[in-house]
Amino acid sequence: MKKLDAAGKVIFICDGKKCGNYSKEIRKGFKVELKDCGLKKEVDVVRMTCSDNCKHAPVISIQPKNLWIGEVQEKEISRIIKDYI
Ligand code: FES
Repeated sequence: MKKLDAAGKVIFICDGKKCGNYSKEIRKGFKVELKDCGLKKEVDVVRMTCSDNCKHAPVISIQPKNLWIGEVQEKEISRIIKDYI
C-alpha cells in the first residue's frame, strides 16, 4: 500500500450523462479560478460519476464539507470558491 499525496479539499464535478453537457467548462472555470486565487495546491478538482441529482445539473460536491451544489453557472464559480473553500 502506498499513501498518495492529496490536497486537503476536493471539488468533485459531476461528469455524468446530464451534467456532462456542462462539466468541461465548469471544471476549467474552477481550475482557472483556483489558480488565480493561489489555491491550486490546496484544492483538487476531480470528475465524478452521476450522483442521482440530474434534475439539478450541473452538480458539484465540495469535500470534506460534504456540500452539494446544483445548477452551477460559470459566473458563480468565483463566489462559490470565496464562500465555501
Ligand atoms: S449526471 Fe450529474 S447528477 Fe446525474
